[in-house]
Amino acid sequence: MAISIKSANQIDKMRTAGKLASSVLEMVGDHVKTGITTEKIDQICHDFIVNDLDCIPAPLNYNGFPKSICTSVNNVVCHGIPSEKKLKKGDIINIDITVIKDGYHGDTSKMFIVGKPSVKAQKICNVARDSMMLGIDMVKPGIHLGEIGKVIGDYAHSKNCSVVRDYCGHGIGEVFHELPQVIHYDDGRINQSPILEPGMTFTIEPMINLGGYEVVTSRIDGWTVTTKDRSLSAQWEHTILVTETGHEILTLRTEETN
Ligand code: MF3
Ligand code: CO
Ligand code: CO
Repeated sequence: MAISIKSANQIDKMRTAGKLASSVLEMVGDHVKTGITTEKIDQICHDFIVNDLDCIPAPLNYNGFPKSICTSVNNVVCHGIPSEKKLKKGDIINIDITVIKDGYHGDTSKMFIVGKPSVKAQKICNVARDSMMLGIDMVKPGIHLGEIGKVIGDYAHSKNCSVVRDYCGHGIGEVFHELPQVIHYDDGRINQSPILEPGMTFTIEPMINLGGYEVVTSRIDGWTVTTKDRSLSAQWEHTILVTETGHEILTLRTEETN
């Protein structure tokens, strides 16, 4: 299967889905405080997505995932399942939102820090965000997809952090996860990686660890991915469109525009 090129009409729908997904992250910020459970955050997002946005929360029942959003706290890398566990001071949490509107997906996540961050917590959140933005800055027609990963990996490594290898970004559209795979480090195959063309849509979503890159998946729930060495992990995600001249961030939030 080749990488799909979206038509102008499909791009309009991706733009709408992206904007709506970003609005969920804007809405939920005020709720992320000590004492709230991640299950309550899930419920607030679910109700907003379904009732206010008239969208479908894509994770719910996706390959059996039991909730509408992913909430990944501290050493959880990704795919954290909302639960009755309460947030406490100093926690860092990734909230990952994917909505479906009119058949098209918008996928985005950000880190929230609960209360006053430790130096380590602030660092890993910043390194993850800055690495994603450097990767996004690369996006334009004609480059190899692998160049994005190299920039992300080089930056994370320069800060003594590691890049998770077992999970990557992905093409997105009518399908939640489609080609291409967006690798967030240099796997030595940049020249064999696809060349970007206008109309491609994919996510960039590096997972960056304070310690080693190895991860483990929970044998209990089959979903929760944690760092093997229990070090902190952070992730940010945007859905990106390749344009004629560069790129457009389809999930940009108002707080990011200035
Ligand atoms: N939103 C995640 C991503 O960025 C995928 C979550 S799949 C789920 O690709 F099943 F865990 F929800
Ligand atoms: Co994604
Ligand atoms: Co996501």
